[in-house]
Amino acid sequence: MDYETLVASAEGLLSGESDFIANAANFAAFVYHELPDLNWAGFYFPNAQGDLVLGPFNGRPACTRLPRGRGVCGAAFVEGRTVVVDDVHAFADHIVCDSASVSEIVVPLVGERGAFGVFDIDSPVAARFDDADRAGIERLVAAFVRAVDTTHAPTPV
Ligand code: SME
Repeated sequence: MDYETLVASAEGLLSGESDFIANAANFAAFVYHELPDLNWAGFYFPNAQGDLVLGPFNGRPACTRLPRGRGVCGAAFVEGRTVVVDDVHAFADHIVCDSASVSEIVVPLVGERGAFGVFDIDSPVAARFDDADRAGIERLVAAFVRAVDTTHAPTPV
């Protein structure tokens, strides 16, 4: 996968628009359609209690709220690090939203305001995300954070 080209394309897609939701929606659609073998790609953002609430995504309808610190997303958010799961059935605290999902990567969004959400990608293929994918997807998410960090993430209640 040519992540360098994808990062440049994502930067182009997000430049010139300052609306947070518009950029988050386009970023999710971009990743979903550019990376092969995915069944879901999208955002979760924390509410005041630290639960993660569903944001813009592509794929089937998903769980709307993930309790604070729970699931792969909660782990990535509270620990502030990328979590890659090769087989969700072997990850005890995985939260099932789509039974088609087998592997998953969750990257926290870390900007000047600290961690302000996560970007989650699911695949129906076991061990879909190797170390090169992890590094490339982190670069894509960093491009998103650079593009939106001065705009306003939603504050769900
Ligand atoms: N599997 C995630 C929940 C979100 S869905 O995959 C879209 C988790 O365990 O946090």
